[in-house]
Amino acid sequence: MNIEDFINNMTLDEKLDFIVGPGLPGQFGNDDVEVRGTVGIIRGVKGLPDIYLADGPAGLRIFPDRENNKYYATSFPIESMLASTWNRDILREVGEAMGEETKEYGVDVLLAPALNIQRNPLGGRNFEYYSEDPLVSGEMAASFVEGVQSKGVGTSIKHFVANNQETNRMKIDTIVSERALREIYLKSFEIALKAKPWTVMTAYNKVNGYYCSQSEYLIKKILREEWGFDGLVMSDWFAGDSGAHQVKAGNDLIMPGKSYQVLNYRIDEREEIKKGLNEGILTEEDIDEAIRNLLNLVIKTPKYNNYNYSNNPNLDEHAKTAYNAALEGIVLLKNNDVFPIKDKKVAVFGTAQIETIKGGLGSGDTHPKYVINIIDGFKEKNIDFDEKLYNIYKNKIEELRKEKYKPYHNDLGHTLYPRLPQNVIDNISYYADNNDLAIIVISRISGEFFDIDIKDFYLYDDEIKLIKEVSKEFRKRNKKVGILLNIGSPIEMATWEELVDGIMLIWQAGQETGRAVADIVKGNHSPSGKLALTIAKRFEDLPSLPFPVNGDEVIYDEGIYVGYRYFDTFKKEPLYEFGYGLSYTKFEYSNLDIKKDNEKLFISFNVKNIGGFPGKEISQIYIRAPKGKIDKPFQELKGFEKTKLLNPGEFQKINIKINIKDLSSYHEGWILEHGQYEIRVGASSRDIRLIEKIDL
Ligand code: BGC
Repeated sequence: MNIEDFINNMTLDEKLDFIVGPGLPGQFGNDDVEVRGTVGIIRGVKGLPDIYLADGPAGLRIFPDRENNKYYATSFPIESMLASTWNRDILREVGEAMGEETKEYGVDVLLAPALNIQRNPLGGRNFEYYSEDPLVSGEMAASFVEGVQSKGVGTSIKHFVANNQETNRMKIDTIVSERALREIYLKSFEIALKAKPWTVMTAYNKVNGYYCSQSEYLIKKILREEWGFDGLVMSDWFAGDSGAHQVKAGNDLIMPGKSYQVLNYRIDEREEIKKGLNEGILTEEDIDEAIRNLLNLVIKTPKYNNYNYSNNPNLDEHAKTAYNAALEGIVLLKNNDVFPIKDKKVAVFGTAQIETIKGGLGSGDTHPKYVINIIDGFKEKNIDFDEKLYNIYKNKIEELRKEKYKPYHNDLGHTLYPRLPQNVIDNISYYADNNDLAIIVISRISGEFFDIDIKDFYLYDDEIKLIKEVSKEFRKRNKKVGILLNIGSPIEMATWEELVDGIMLIWQAGQETGRAVADIVKGNHSPSGKLALTIAKRFEDLPSLPFPVNGDEVIYDEGIYVGYRYFDTFKKEPLYEFGYGLSYTKFEYSNLDIKKDNEKLFISFNVKNIGGFPGKEISQIYIRAPKGKIDKPFQELKGFEKTKLLNPGEFQKINIKINIKDLSSYHEGWILEHGQYEIRVGASSRDIRLIEKIDL
């Protein structure tokens, strides 16, 4: 295609039809589409094909029911769990699998990954985001994007930028310093761009007075001019308040289109853009620039290239990928000889052993063929559990399901089913007599549109009661109690963690949850995930308060001191620090060697498995900058690597390169302070094993 000729032959109306989508497929009076569940279409103007866009971060979100067939897509672990693997290869493999499903189901662009910063544990979409740290977020996103796009379909890195709360997300103005924007919120996107995502999705919110989709500063100046992004920029669904300003700002595609039917303050976006042309808000060249970016995307798509999709991706293979990712993302937080349970007989408490939460709700949801819940996983892996106790939970849930009982409040929000049947709490001593240990499953769900209710951050009364009783009866008999946390974002743990001997953060691990959890619990594999966020002792300890803000404006007055940057610099004790996670084995670090040239640091060291169990270790490099003109956090993560599976006695030499310019801070430009930098190699942010200093 000769793009310039094509543009010269387009009428203004055709151009506007191209820029503005035809509306949400299958809704608000729109005809259904070929691929049910896709959420956006780039209109096939002038003989081009329609291009399909579908969510999302935990798997391709399409609706299974079509004709007489079922079109299931794999449900992968949520992003916060994927990040806990710290494993770029896993992210790439998950990306490849999702990319194949995207392509084989006839979709052209996957609306993922989401890589906003987890600023506060109550963020409703934290589960869809990777980390509190921009390096982890950006690296995970880049590997994922590479994987998806290697299949010849596109990605959309979203939501650009600072979409960190759901409350009032369509209008809220995020007031944030240039430095925090550059070093934290924009940084993850800047890093992810190295994978050349086909598209970027602008966020709903405003940043410092301008809607992200209407901000020339963010789109034209930073994304395009400074970072050289030459792909397509699209709006989030129904975002902003002026199509004309969106196109002017460099937002090429308005999604899903027909917003005026949904949001009453708008007219047809195409009319609005025309009006904008007349009023001089934008020029025809601005429109042509958007068309150019659209055409450059369209010609890469499977649809344009007449790809004959099979509707038959390799779901069996992808189930294995989902399992591997789940296995590596489980984080063992506490372990006084509870895990692995090996052949012990276990009493499993909690409804989530059956109603296991696979992921979050909203556009990050998935529709898989099955979900292996925790107890099914236990059965499959021959874990000996108390059948009588299990049957009480099973019967209770079956009864509730008959009443068309919905596990979630309004499809979103808290789990409502009773967590504690009376005949369970009355008989804890019986279960303590008849089992070797107890495991209690605690679950939470959250989703798009709402932030997490503070009530859901704390345990409910019946959960506390259960933990207390189980702890009392089992410990009395010298038996252990372990907790499985089936959650998407941290909950409060400090007030009850002493009542239990082990805590395993199993996240929301997608369709293979039960299998991966059972393998780790039993000891077929060691846990090897680590936290990509900080777990605070108390909600009040967090730097990002109040949260969420229910107003027109949210002020990020913690600046760059997000997550561990705050806890470390201001000497607050977290409950579990960033980068932390236990294993069934132990690792020793040695032989730190640092070399440099004008651009890079070359860091190498050895990691040896000195325990009795095969395992993988995640090593992290934190750098402490010298005192200079600019305030610096105590330390910042600048590199990380996960080892291969190391057998007892085996070691691996780890090599990590760090760009020296990535050690700079933003103050009216990027500044690298002169002086002595401390290179800190750690098993977590607070378990530093090797230190060396270097002058820069
Ligand atoms: C979400 C996006 C999503 C889009 C399409 C919006 O509400 O914020 O993440 O891609 O809907 O479903």
